[in-house]
Amino acid sequence: MFGIKKQETINELEVDSKKMQETKSIFKTEEKDIKHLIAPGGIDASYTNHIEIASNRTRYARSMVVAALPRMCTFPEFLRGMYTFGDVNVSVFINPVSESTSQTDLNRTINELESERVVAQERGDINRERIIAQKRAEAEELRDAIAAGFNKLFDSTIISTVFAYSMDELDKYTELLTNEMSKNLIDLKPAWAMQDEAFRSNMPFCENKLNKSHTFDRRAMSTVFPFFNSEVGHEDGIPLGFNKQTGLPILYNNFSSKLTNYNMIVFGKSGAGKSVTIKTLSARSSILMGIESLALDAEGEYGVVAESLGGVNVVISPTSKTIINVFDIEPEVVKDEITGKERTIVSVENKVEDVTQGLLTMARRKYRK
Ligand SMILES: Nc1ncnc2c1ncn2[C@@H]1O[C@H](COP(=O)(O)OP(=O)(O)OP(=O)(O)O)[C@@H](O)[C@H]1O
Ligand SMILES: [Mg+2]
Repeated sequence: MFGIKKQETINELEVDSKKMQETKSIFKTEEKDIKHLIAPGGIDASYTNHIEIASNRTRYARSMVVAALPRMCTFPEFLRGMYTFGDVNVSVFINPVSESTSQTDLNRTINELESERVVAQERGDINRERIIAQKRAEAEELRDAIAAGFNKLFDSTIISTVFAYSMDELDKYTELLTNEMSKNLIDLKPAWAMQDEAFRSNMPFCENKLNKSHTFDRRAMSTVFPFFNSEVGHEDGIPLGFNKQTGLPILYNNFSSKLTNYNMIVFGKSGAGKSVTIKTLSARSSILMGIESLALDAEGEYGVVAESLGGVNVVISPTSKTIINVFDIEPEVVKDEITGKERTIVSVENKVEDVTQGLLTMARRKYRK
C-alpha cells in the first residue's frame, strides 16, 4: 500500500515539475536583460546635425567637439560650465604623447616659427615678429621641460552631447552652452555629419571615433578634471550635512577601512563652522555609534556638549579640586607589531621619563616667572 502511494506521489511530483518547466519556458520567451530594458526603441542617426532617440517620448541629442582652446587653462574652472550645464554628457579622451614624438614635433614647430619670424622681420612687421618670438620661446621652454622630465604632452579630444525633448530646446541649449564656453575662450562646434560617431564616442565604451584632438601639457591637462565636484564622506557613518554641489547627504565614519588612520584636522577661517562641525561629529558619533570623545577644552566651549550628552566636564585649574597626579601609574595595553598580540605592561621607564619631563617643564616655567 505504502509503496504504491509513494509511487503515485512521485508521479504527481514529476507531472508538477513538468508543468513548472512549461510555465518557466513561457516566461523565458518574455525574459529581458537590463540592456533590453533600458534601451530606447531606436536611434535615428540619419540627420547631419543631431540624432533622434525614439522612445515613449522622442529625445533629441546634438554632439559637439571642442574646436579651439585658449592659450592658458585656469584651474579648476576650465570645463566647469560644461560639466554643470544640465542634461549634458561630456567625455574627455586623454592619450599620452611619447617623449621622442613630443621632441620631434616641438623641434619642427620651433623651426617653422623661426622661419615665420625671419619673414616677419624682413617685412618690418614688428608686431607679428614679437608674437612669433614669444610663441617660439614658449615652445622652447616646453621642449626643455619635457626633456628634463618636468612636463609631458597629451593628445585630448573633448566631446559633449546636449539632450532635449524638442528641436527648439535643443537649438536653445546648443546656443547657451556654446556661449557659456566662449566665456572661457573655448570654441565648441557641432560634429557636423559626424553625429553618429560623436554620439558613440560619448558613450562609456572608451572608443574615440573622432579625429579632433588638441595638445595639452601636464598642467593644462589637470584642469579638465572635475575636482570641485568630488564626493566627500563614506558609505556609512554619521550624517554631517549635505554636499551643495550634488545635494547628496555626507556621511562620515572616522573608523572607515578606507582611511589610513583615524587622524583628522579641520581647517577654516574664523567663524566658518569648525567648532560646530567637531561638536556635531562628536555628539552624533556618541549617540549613533556609541563612540566616546575626549576634548582638551582650553576655551571651555565643549562643556555644554559633554553635559547634554550625559558626559562629564572635568575642570582643571589651580583652584579646582580636581588635580592631575603626575605620579599616577597605570597598566597599558600594547600590540606587538609582528605577531599582533596584545600585552598589558607597566612601563616604569617611560613613566619616569614622562614625570621628569613634566617636572622640568613646570620648574622652568616657575624659574622664568
Ligand atoms: N552648519 C551650520 N549651520 C548653521 N550655522 C552654523 C553652521 N556652522 C556654523 N554656524 C554658525 O556659525 C557660527 C560660528 O561657527 P563656529 O563657532 O563653529 O566657527 P569656528 O570656525 O569654530 O570659528 P573660530 O575660528 O572663531 O573658533 C556658529 O555660532 C553658528 O551660529
Ligand atoms: Mg571655534
